[in-house]
Amino acid sequence: MEKKNIDWGSLGFGYVKTDYRYVSNFKNGSWDEGALTTDDQITLSECACVFQYAQTVFEGMKAYTTEDGRTVVFRPDLNAERMVNSALRLQMPAFPKERFLDAVEQTVRANLNAVPPYGSGATLYLRPFMFGSNPVIGVKPADEYQFRIFATPVGPYFKGGAKPITIRVCDYDRAAPNGTGHIKAGLNYAMSLYAIVDAHNQGYDENMYLDSKTRTNVEETGGANFLFVTKDGKVVTPKSDTILPSITRRSLVHVAKEYLGLEVEERVVPFEEVKDFAECGLCGTAAVISPVGKIVDHGKEICLPSGMNEMGPVTKKLYDTLTGIQMGRIEAPEGWIKVIE
Ligand code: PLP
Ligand code: COI
Repeated sequence: MEKKNIDWGSLGFGYVKTDYRYVSNFKNGSWDEGALTTDDQITLSECACVFQYAQTVFEGMKAYTTEDGRTVVFRPDLNAERMVNSALRLQMPAFPKERFLDAVEQTVRANLNAVPPYGSGATLYLRPFMFGSNPVIGVKPADEYQFRIFATPVGPYFKGGAKPITIRVCDYDRAAPNGTGHIKAGLNYAMSLYAIVDAHNQGYDENMYLDSKTRTNVEETGGANFLFVTKDGKVVTPKSDTILPSITRRSLVHVAKEYLGLEVEERVVPFEEVKDFAECGLCGTAAVISPVGKIVDHGKEICLPSGMNEMGPVTKKLYDTLTGIQMGRIEAPEGWIKVIE
Protein backbone atom coordinates (compact mmCIF):
# COMPACT_ATOMS: atom_id res chain seq x y z
CA MET A 1 0.00 0.00 0.00
CA GLU A 2 1.54 3.26 -1.11
CA LYS A 3 1.09 5.91 1.56
CA LYS A 4 -0.06 9.46 0.88
CA ASN A 5 2.66 12.03 0.50
CA ILE A 6 2.30 13.59 3.94
CA ASP A 7 4.98 14.82 6.31
CA TRP A 8 3.62 12.59 9.09
CA GLY A 9 6.05 13.80 11.73
CA SER A 10 4.88 17.39 11.55
CA LEU A 11 1.14 16.73 11.76
CA GLY A 12 -0.71 18.43 14.57
CA PHE A 13 -4.23 17.57 15.70
CA GLY A 14 -6.06 19.00 12.68
CA TYR A 15 -8.36 17.88 9.89
CA VAL A 16 -6.76 16.47 6.78
CA LYS A 17 -9.27 15.23 4.25
CA THR A 18 -8.90 11.57 3.35
CA ASP A 19 -10.36 9.69 0.40
CA TYR A 20 -13.34 7.81 1.86
CA ARG A 21 -15.94 8.16 4.57
CA TYR A 22 -18.78 5.84 5.61
CA VAL A 23 -22.39 7.04 5.56
CA SER A 24 -25.65 5.44 6.66
CA ASN A 25 -29.05 7.13 6.89
CA PHE A 26 -31.95 6.40 9.23
CA LYS A 27 -35.45 6.92 7.83
CA ASN A 28 -38.89 5.41 8.44
CA GLY A 29 -37.63 3.65 11.55
CA SER A 30 -34.55 1.88 10.16
CA TRP A 31 -30.94 2.34 9.08
CA ASP A 32 -30.14 1.81 5.40
CA GLU A 33 -27.33 -0.56 4.49
CA GLY A 34 -24.66 2.18 4.47
CA ALA A 35 -21.78 2.70 2.06
CA LEU A 36 -18.43 4.35 1.57
CA THR A 37 -18.38 7.60 -0.37
CA THR A 38 -15.76 10.08 -1.53
CA ASP A 39 -18.16 12.99 -0.91
CA ASP A 40 -17.09 14.94 2.18
CA GLN A 41 -19.96 17.46 1.91
CA ILE A 42 -23.35 17.23 3.65
CA THR A 43 -26.38 19.18 2.43
CA LEU A 44 -29.23 19.55 4.90
CA SER A 45 -32.38 21.57 5.52
CA GLU A 46 -31.72 24.86 7.32
CA CYS A 47 -34.15 23.55 9.94
CA ALA A 48 -32.42 20.18 10.55
CA CYS A 49 -32.61 19.24 14.23
CA VAL A 50 -28.81 19.24 14.50
CA PHE A 51 -28.70 22.96 13.59
CA GLN A 52 -31.58 24.04 15.78
CA TYR A 53 -31.25 21.86 18.86
CA ALA A 54 -27.74 20.38 18.62
CA GLN A 55 -28.95 16.81 18.35
CA THR A 56 -25.57 15.26 17.65
CA VAL A 57 -23.21 12.77 19.31
CA PHE A 58 -19.76 11.59 18.30
CA GLU A 59 -16.86 9.28 19.06
CA GLY A 60 -13.11 9.31 18.67
CA MET A 61 -10.70 6.42 18.19
CA LYS A 62 -7.45 5.70 16.39
CA ALA A 63 -5.97 3.28 13.87
CA TYR A 64 -2.27 2.47 14.23
CA THR A 65 0.41 0.80 12.17
CA THR A 66 2.07 -1.77 14.40
CA GLU A 67 5.75 -2.59 14.58
CA ASP A 68 5.17 -5.63 12.34
CA GLY A 69 3.22 -3.64 9.74
CA ARG A 70 -0.39 -4.56 10.60
CA THR A 71 -3.13 -1.93 10.79
CA VAL A 72 -5.07 -2.08 14.03
CA VAL A 73 -7.80 -0.19 15.88
CA PHE A 74 -7.83 0.07 19.67
CA ARG A 75 -10.98 -1.19 21.45
CA PRO A 76 -13.59 0.05 18.94
CA ASP A 77 -16.22 -2.13 20.67
CA LEU A 78 -16.14 0.28 23.61
CA ASN A 79 -16.63 3.27 21.32
CA ALA A 80 -19.58 1.47 19.72
CA GLU A 81 -21.16 0.89 23.14
CA ARG A 82 -20.54 4.44 24.33
CA MET A 83 -22.08 5.83 21.15
CA VAL A 84 -25.22 3.78 21.73
CA ASN A 85 -25.46 5.28 25.23
CA SER A 86 -24.84 8.78 23.90
CA ALA A 87 -27.50 8.38 21.21
CA LEU A 88 -30.15 7.04 23.57
CA ARG A 89 -29.61 9.94 25.99
CA LEU A 90 -30.34 12.39 23.15
CA GLN A 91 -33.37 10.42 21.92
CA MET A 92 -31.55 9.20 18.82
CA PRO A 93 -31.75 5.68 17.41
CA ALA A 94 -28.77 3.50 18.34
CA PHE A 95 -26.41 2.61 15.52
CA PRO A 96 -25.99 -1.13 16.13
CA LYS A 97 -22.65 -2.24 17.58
CA GLU A 98 -21.90 -4.82 14.86
CA ARG A 99 -22.71 -2.25 12.17
CA PHE A 100 -20.45 0.27 13.91
CA LEU A 101 -17.53 -2.18 13.99
CA ASP A 102 -18.05 -3.06 10.33
CA ALA A 103 -18.20 0.64 9.40
CA VAL A 104 -14.93 1.29 11.27
CA GLU A 105 -13.28 -1.57 9.44
CA GLN A 106 -14.54 -0.38 6.04
CA THR A 107 -13.43 3.20 6.70
CA VAL A 108 -9.93 2.22 7.78
CA ARG A 109 -9.50 -0.27 4.93
CA ALA A 110 -10.58 2.35 2.40
CA ASN A 111 -8.10 4.88 3.82
CA LEU A 112 -5.07 2.63 4.38
CA ASN A 113 -2.95 5.13 2.45
CA ALA A 114 -3.62 7.64 5.25
CA VAL A 115 -2.72 5.40 8.19
CA PRO A 116 0.59 6.91 9.33
CA PRO A 117 3.60 4.58 9.21
CA TYR A 118 4.95 2.93 12.37
CA GLY A 119 7.29 5.18 14.28
CA SER A 120 6.09 8.40 12.64
CA GLY A 121 4.44 9.67 15.82
CA ALA A 122 1.14 10.09 13.96
CA THR A 123 -2.03 7.95 13.88
CA LEU A 124 -5.26 7.84 11.90
CA TYR A 125 -8.00 9.44 13.98
CA LEU A 126 -11.51 8.11 13.31
CA ARG A 127 -14.48 10.32 14.02
CA PRO A 128 -17.84 8.52 14.01
CA PHE A 129 -20.77 10.90 14.49
CA MET A 130 -24.53 11.02 14.18
CA PHE A 131 -27.02 13.84 13.85
CA GLY A 132 -30.73 14.58 13.50
CA SER A 133 -31.14 15.50 9.84
CA ASN A 134 -34.78 16.35 9.12
CA PRO A 135 -36.50 19.70 9.82
CA VAL A 136 -37.74 20.15 13.40
CA ILE A 137 -39.00 23.45 14.77
CA GLY A 138 -40.92 22.52 17.93
CA VAL A 139 -38.48 21.17 20.51
CA LYS A 140 -38.49 17.44 19.82
CA PRO A 141 -36.12 14.83 18.42
CA ALA A 142 -35.69 14.38 14.67
CA ASP A 143 -37.01 11.24 13.03
CA GLU A 144 -34.33 11.04 10.38
CA TYR A 145 -30.61 10.70 11.15
CA GLN A 146 -27.26 10.32 9.51
CA PHE A 147 -24.35 8.25 10.87
CA ARG A 148 -20.91 8.95 9.44
CA ILE A 149 -17.30 8.05 10.03
CA PHE A 150 -14.46 10.04 8.56
CA ALA A 151 -10.76 9.55 9.08
CA THR A 152 -7.98 12.10 9.42
CA PRO A 153 -4.28 11.56 10.15
CA VAL A 154 -3.24 13.37 13.32
CA GLY A 155 -0.20 14.15 15.42
CA PRO A 156 -0.14 15.13 19.11
CA TYR A 157 -3.17 16.91 20.60
CA PHE A 158 -1.01 19.36 22.52
CA LYS A 159 1.78 21.15 20.70
CA GLY A 160 5.06 19.84 22.06
CA GLY A 161 3.79 16.25 22.36
CA ALA A 162 5.08 14.82 25.62
CA LYS A 163 6.09 18.19 27.11
CA PRO A 164 4.17 18.93 30.34
CA ILE A 165 1.36 21.44 30.00
CA THR A 166 -0.10 24.09 32.28
CA ILE A 167 -3.81 24.07 33.08
CA ARG A 168 -6.06 26.26 35.18
CA VAL A 169 -8.99 25.62 37.45
CA CYS A 170 -12.00 26.82 35.47
CA ASP A 171 -14.87 28.93 36.79
CA TYR A 172 -17.21 27.75 34.04
CA ASP A 173 -19.03 24.45 34.31
CA ARG A 174 -18.94 21.73 31.74
CA ALA A 175 -21.61 19.36 32.97
CA ALA A 176 -24.51 19.46 35.41
CA PRO A 177 -25.61 16.73 37.83
CA ASN A 178 -28.12 14.53 35.95
CA GLY A 179 -27.07 16.25 32.73
CA THR A 180 -25.05 14.97 29.77
CA GLY A 181 -21.44 15.05 31.01
CA HIS A 182 -21.21 11.24 30.84
CA ILE A 183 -22.02 11.04 27.12
CA LYS A 184 -20.19 12.32 24.08
CA ALA A 185 -22.67 14.92 22.89
CA GLY A 186 -21.57 17.88 20.77
CA LEU A 187 -23.43 20.16 23.16
CA ASN A 188 -20.89 19.45 25.94
CA TYR A 189 -18.13 20.72 23.70
CA ALA A 190 -20.11 23.78 22.59
CA MET A 191 -20.40 24.55 26.32
CA SER A 192 -16.64 24.39 26.68
CA LEU A 193 -15.65 26.61 23.75
CA TYR A 194 -15.87 29.91 25.61
CA ALA A 195 -13.84 28.48 28.47
CA ILE A 196 -11.10 27.00 26.28
CA VAL A 197 -10.64 30.19 24.25
CA ASP A 198 -10.47 32.15 27.49
CA ALA A 199 -7.93 29.67 28.91
CA HIS A 200 -5.76 29.92 25.79
CA ASN A 201 -5.98 33.72 25.83
CA GLN A 202 -4.64 33.63 29.36
CA GLY A 203 -1.78 31.32 28.45
CA TYR A 204 -3.16 27.99 29.71
CA ASP A 205 -3.31 24.81 27.66
CA GLU A 206 -6.53 23.41 29.14
CA ASN A 207 -9.19 23.80 31.81
CA MET A 208 -9.59 21.67 34.89
CA TYR A 209 -13.33 21.46 35.56
CA LEU A 210 -14.55 20.91 39.10
CA ASP A 211 -17.89 19.30 39.89
CA SER A 212 -20.54 21.93 39.29
CA LYS A 213 -22.59 21.07 42.39
CA THR A 214 -19.97 21.64 45.09
CA ARG A 215 -16.98 22.97 43.12
CA THR A 216 -14.71 20.98 45.41
CA ASN A 217 -13.93 17.82 43.43
CA VAL A 218 -11.85 17.28 40.31
CA GLU A 219 -13.85 16.25 37.26
CA GLU A 220 -11.98 16.30 33.93
CA THR A 221 -10.78 18.67 31.21
CA GLY A 222 -12.63 19.63 28.03
CA GLY A 223 -11.30 16.57 26.21
CA ALA A 224 -9.66 14.13 28.63
CA ASN A 225 -9.92 12.45 32.04
CA PHE A 226 -7.35 12.92 34.82
CA LEU A 227 -4.85 10.46 36.23
CA PHE A 228 -2.82 11.40 39.29
CA VAL A 229 0.05 9.59 40.97
CA THR A 230 0.57 9.85 44.72
CA LYS A 231 4.00 10.33 46.26
CA ASP A 232 3.98 6.64 47.22
CA GLY A 233 3.27 5.55 43.63
CA LYS A 234 -0.48 4.88 43.70
CA VAL A 235 -2.57 5.82 40.67
CA VAL A 236 -5.65 7.88 41.50
CA THR A 237 -8.37 8.78 39.03
CA PRO A 238 -11.59 10.74 39.63
CA LYS A 239 -14.86 8.85 39.77
CA SER A 240 -17.92 10.89 38.85
CA ASP A 241 -21.23 10.43 37.06
CA THR A 242 -20.69 13.67 35.17
CA ILE A 243 -17.43 12.86 33.37
CA LEU A 244 -16.99 10.95 30.14
CA PRO A 245 -16.11 7.29 30.79
CA SER A 246 -12.79 7.47 28.96
CA ILE A 247 -11.73 4.29 27.20
CA THR A 248 -8.10 5.32 27.58
CA ARG A 249 -8.56 5.81 31.33
CA ARG A 250 -10.30 2.46 31.73
CA SER A 251 -7.49 0.82 29.75
CA LEU A 252 -4.81 2.55 31.81
CA VAL A 253 -6.40 1.38 35.04
CA HIS A 254 -6.07 -2.18 33.76
CA VAL A 255 -2.50 -1.55 32.57
CA ALA A 256 -1.53 -0.02 35.92
CA LYS A 257 -2.88 -2.96 37.90
CA GLU A 258 -2.20 -5.92 35.64
CA TYR A 259 0.95 -4.91 33.75
CA LEU A 260 2.70 -2.63 36.22
CA GLY A 261 1.45 -4.02 39.53
CA LEU A 262 0.40 -0.58 40.76
CA GLU A 263 -2.34 0.15 43.22
CA VAL A 264 -5.21 2.11 41.66
CA GLU A 265 -7.91 4.13 43.36
CA GLU A 266 -10.98 5.23 41.39
CA ARG A 267 -12.72 7.62 43.71
CA VAL A 268 -13.85 11.15 44.36
CA VAL A 269 -10.77 13.39 44.25
CA PRO A 270 -11.09 16.59 46.30
CA PHE A 271 -9.25 19.46 44.65
CA GLU A 272 -7.62 20.08 48.05
CA GLU A 273 -5.65 16.88 47.57
CA VAL A 274 -4.12 17.85 44.23
CA LYS A 275 -1.24 19.79 45.80
CA ASP A 276 -0.06 16.52 47.40
CA PHE A 277 0.21 14.48 44.19
CA ALA A 278 3.54 13.67 42.56
CA GLU A 279 2.33 13.44 38.95
CA CYS A 280 -0.68 14.40 36.89
CA GLY A 281 -1.68 13.44 33.36
CA LEU A 282 -4.60 13.90 30.98
CA CYS A 283 -5.73 10.75 29.28
CA GLY A 284 -7.85 10.26 26.20
CA THR A 285 -7.71 9.07 22.62
CA ALA A 286 -6.48 12.44 21.37
CA ALA A 287 -4.43 13.28 24.48
CA VAL A 288 -2.99 9.72 24.91
CA ILE A 289 -1.38 10.66 28.23
CA SER A 290 -0.36 14.29 28.26
CA PRO A 291 1.61 15.20 31.37
CA VAL A 292 0.54 18.21 33.41
CA GLY A 293 3.36 20.17 35.02
CA LYS A 294 1.44 23.01 36.61
CA ILE A 295 -2.12 23.66 37.77
CA VAL A 296 -3.11 27.25 38.48
CA ASP A 297 -6.00 27.92 40.86
CA HIS A 298 -6.92 31.61 40.65
CA GLY A 299 -3.32 32.74 40.76
CA LYS A 300 -2.13 30.05 43.18
CA GLU A 301 0.30 27.70 41.45
CA ILE A 302 0.52 24.00 42.10
CA CYS A 303 3.77 22.79 40.58
CA LEU A 304 3.83 19.02 40.23
CA PRO A 305 7.15 17.56 41.46
CA SER A 306 7.56 15.89 38.05
CA GLY A 307 8.27 19.38 36.67
CA MET A 308 7.85 21.13 33.34
CA ASN A 309 10.44 19.22 31.31
CA GLU A 310 9.32 15.63 31.15
CA MET A 311 6.67 13.14 32.16
CA GLY A 312 6.82 11.80 35.68
CA PRO A 313 8.25 8.26 35.96
CA VAL A 314 4.93 6.49 36.64
CA THR A 315 3.13 8.44 33.91
CA LYS A 316 5.96 7.47 31.55
CA LYS A 317 5.60 3.77 32.39
CA LEU A 318 1.86 3.97 31.80
CA TYR A 319 2.42 5.82 28.53
CA ASP A 320 5.06 3.36 27.29
CA THR A 321 2.94 0.34 28.16
CA LEU A 322 -0.28 1.66 26.64
CA THR A 323 1.36 2.85 23.43
CA GLY A 324 3.37 -0.41 23.36
CA ILE A 325 0.09 -2.33 23.37
CA GLN A 326 -1.43 -0.07 20.72
CA MET A 327 1.59 -0.33 18.43
CA GLY A 328 1.97 -4.08 18.88
CA ARG A 329 5.24 -4.04 20.86
CA ILE A 330 3.57 -5.43 23.99
CA GLU A 331 1.01 -8.21 24.05
CA ALA A 332 -2.51 -6.81 24.39
CA PRO A 333 -5.22 -8.16 26.66
CA GLU A 334 -7.70 -10.38 24.82
CA GLY A 335 -10.03 -8.36 22.57
CA TRP A 336 -8.30 -4.98 22.82
CA ILE A 337 -6.89 -4.90 19.31
CA LYS A 338 -8.99 -5.16 16.14
CA VAL A 339 -6.79 -6.06 13.20
CA ILE A 340 -7.89 -4.61 9.85
CA GLU A 341 -7.29 -7.41 7.33
N1 PLP B 1 -13.28 13.28 28.43
C1 PLP B 1 -13.73 14.02 27.42
C2 PLP B 1 -14.57 15.20 27.72
C3 PLP B 1 -13.41 13.66 26.10
O1 PLP B 1 -13.85 14.39 25.07
C4 PLP B 1 -12.60 12.55 25.86
C5 PLP B 1 -12.26 12.14 24.50
O2 PLP B 1 -12.83 11.28 23.92
C6 PLP B 1 -12.14 11.81 26.96
C7 PLP B 1 -12.50 12.21 28.22
C8 PLP B 1 -11.30 10.60 26.76
O3 PLP B 1 -12.04 9.51 26.33
P1 PLP B 1 -11.40 8.36 25.47
O4 PLP B 1 -10.26 7.85 26.24
O5 PLP B 1 -12.48 7.36 25.35
O6 PLP B 1 -11.00 8.96 24.18
C1 COI C 1 -10.92 12.24 21.65
O1 COI C 1 -9.94 12.13 22.38
O2 COI C 1 -11.20 11.39 20.80
C2 COI C 1 -11.80 13.38 21.74
O3 COI C 1 -12.88 13.32 21.22
C3 COI C 1 -11.36 14.57 22.44
C4 COI C 1 -11.49 15.81 21.62
C5 COI C 1 -11.17 16.92 22.51
C6 COI C 1 -10.60 15.79 20.43
